[in-house]
Amino acid sequence: MYPGSFDPPTNGHLDVIVRAARIFSELTVAVVVNPQKREPMFNLQDRKAMIADSVAHLSNVKVEEFSGLLADYVKAKKADVIIKGLRVVSDFESEMSTALMNRSLSNVDTMFLMSDQKYSFVSSSLVKEVFFLGGDAAALVPEPVMRFMTAKRALLRGSK
Ligand code: PNS
Repeated sequence: MYPGSFDPPTNGHLDVIVRAARIFSELTVAVVVNPQKREPMFNLQDRKAMIADSVAHLSNVKVEEFSGLLADYVKAKKADVIIKGLRVVSDFESEMSTALMNRSLSNVDTMFLMSDQKYSFVSSSLVKEVFFLGGDAAALVPEPVMRFMTAKRALLRGSK
């Protein structure tokens, strides 16, 4: 189970998905309905569609949604392991306590996969900031995500 906000999914997320799908026979990408941080830019339907379109070539990957505690969701789905991506060492600091909390609640372990180092600076929040301020994000997100972002930018510009 690979959980996240995916607002939007990046090439770093896709890199982790590809690696996990090589290791495990089945991978579920679990999109959180309401990210804790703030209101998402992309609604749940769009975030799920962006991932589904980006992983269409991976036959053992499916996309689902969850709300509430991740620990409850992994228990309900009988997931064997939670996957999290690490970009830089500082990611590990918060991820370790989250992993320990999830394990104490569900008895499900978290395994960390390092995304390719060329994505170490790529985050959903930076991608959004760069793209919506007119920067080039084509190298940072999968092609289907670029289409969704371009449509969203046109919509936002049209509504101004
Ligand atoms: O992509 P993100 O924003 O880093 O993903 C964070 C996510 C969705 C994995 C995390 O916020 C989460 O698991 N939320 C569900 C609520 C929950 O279980 N909270 C307690 C975590 S110990």
